[in-house]
Amino acid sequence: MSDKKTSNEMWGGRFASGPAAIMEAINASIDFDRKLYAQDIRGSLAHSVMLAETGIISAEDQSRIAHGLNTILEEIEAGTFTFSAAREDIHMNIEARLAELIGPSAGRLHTARSRNDQVAVDFRLWVKEELTRTAEALKGLIGAFLARAEDHAGTIMPGFTHLQSAQPVTFGHHCMAYVEMFGRDLSRVRDALERLDESPLGAAALAGTGFPIDRTMTAEALGFRGPTRNSIDSVSDRDFALEFLSTAAICATHLSRLAEEIVIWSTPQFGFVRLSDSFSTGSSIMPQKKNPDAAELVRAKTGRINGDLLALLTVMKGLPLAYSKDMQEDKEAVFDAAEALELMLAAMTGMVADMTVDKTAMRKAAGAGYATATDLADWLVRVAGLPFREAHHVTGRAVALAEDKKSALEKLTLEELQAIHAGITEDVYSVLSVRNSVRSRTSFGGTAPAEVRRQIRYWKKRLARA
Ligand code: ARG
Repeated sequence: MSDKKTSNEMWGGRFASGPAAIMEAINASIDFDRKLYAQDIRGSLAHSVMLAETGIISAEDQSRIAHGLNTILEEIEAGTFTFSAAREDIHMNIEARLAELIGPSAGRLHTARSRNDQVAVDFRLWVKEELTRTAEALKGLIGAFLARAEDHAGTIMPGFTHLQSAQPVTFGHHCMAYVEMFGRDLSRVRDALERLDESPLGAAALAGTGFPIDRTMTAEALGFRGPTRNSIDSVSDRDFALEFLSTAAICATHLSRLAEEIVIWSTPQFGFVRLSDSFSTGSSIMPQKKNPDAAELVRAKTGRINGDLLALLTVMKGLPLAYSKDMQEDKEAVFDAAEALELMLAAMTGMVADMTVDKTAMRKAAGAGYATATDLADWLVRVAGLPFREAHHVTGRAVALAEDKKSALEKLTLEELQAIHAGITEDVYSVLSVRNSVRSRTSFGGTAPAEVRRQIRYWKKRLARA
C-alpha cells in the first residue's frame, strides 16, 4: 500500500511525504547556517565586483546583483525574509531570492565559484569576527583582574596546594595568576586569527577555475591578508574552526577553575568573597542562602564547549580531501561554543569586578594551618646554617608541638623552640608571621606585594598594546 506521496510505512515515521522529506530534513542546514547571512552577502558582493572588474560579467549585471543582495540584507535584518528548508542552506536561500528579485542576472553570480569555497569563506569571516569579539572580552576580564590585584596587592590569604593551606600569598598575586592564564588565552586567540587570515574564495569546487579571476582582489575586499595557496586545502580545511574550539575549550577550562574557586570562596565556611546580588540567587526554601549560580553555570558550560571541540574533531578525522558534506556539521559546534564562551566571559568579568573581598577572613585563614612552617625551615637554613632536610625535620617537630598545644607557630615560646633546636634565636619570630612571610618572597614572580605591583605594571603596559 505504499504511495510515493506519503511516508514509508517501515521508516517514514513523522515524515509526511516520503523519502524526499527525510532527505530534506537531513540535508538542510538553513536552521543554523542562516547565522552566516551577512558574511555570505559580503562574500558575494566582493565576488561580483571582482567578476565585473575582470570582465567575466558585465557592470550592469554586477550592479543588479549588488542591488539585489543589499535588498536581501535588508529583508533578513527586518525579519521579512522567508527562509526555506527546500532551498537547503543560506547560500541557496540567498541566491534563489536574488533570482526572484533581479531575474536572469542572478545566475551570473555563481560563475567561477562553488558552494565549497563560498561556505569556507563565509565561515572564516564569521570565526574571524568571533575571535575578535573574544579578544575584546578577554581584555575586559584581564582588566577587571588587574584592578582587583591593584586593590589587593597587600591582602594576605592562604595559598593552597591540594586545597590544603600551603603558604601565605596575597590575593593580588592570586588574581595575577588568572591574568597570566587569560593573557595566554588572548595570545592563542591572536595566533588563531593570524593563521585563519587567508581567503579561500576562488578555490571553487576544489581545483580552482579557468576563469581569469583575481583572488587577491576578493581577499583584500574581504579584509584578508591574501588568498590561500592551495585550492584543495582551501575547501577541505577546517583548522580555523578547530582552533577556535580548542582555544575556547582552554579558555573555558580557565574560567571553570576560577568558577570553582569562587564557589569555594563564597561558602560561609571560607567566606573570602561575597558575590553581588546580580550574580547570585536565593533559595526558594532556605532563606539564609545565597547561591553562586552564575559561577556554577560557567563551570558547567565548560562541559559543552569541550563537547563541541570533540564533536568537530571527530567529524573531521576520517574525511578524505577535499569537501565532504560531513563538514556541514562544523557550524553548530562553533556557534554553540561561541555563544557559551561570550556569556561565560561576560559573567565572570562581572563577578570579578563586583565581588566583595573579605580581607579579615582571608587574613585569619592565612594564619591557620601552620602556613609559615616553610619560613621557619628557610630561617633555620639561612640563619642557623642547617641543611634544608634537617631544617625540615626540626620544623616538623615545632609544628607537632604547636598542634599539641593547639597554638599557632609564632605563639610557641623561645624556650620551647630552643628545646627543639638550640640554634633558634629571638630573630625567628620575624619570619613566623604571615605578613613577614609574604613580604620576604621577593623572587621574580613571587608573592611579595612589591613584586606583585611590578607584575601589575608590566601587564598594564602589555594590555594597552594587546
Ligand atoms: N551547506 C553546505 C555546508 O555547510 C554548503 C556547501 C555545500 N557543498 C556541496 N558540494 N554540497 O557545508
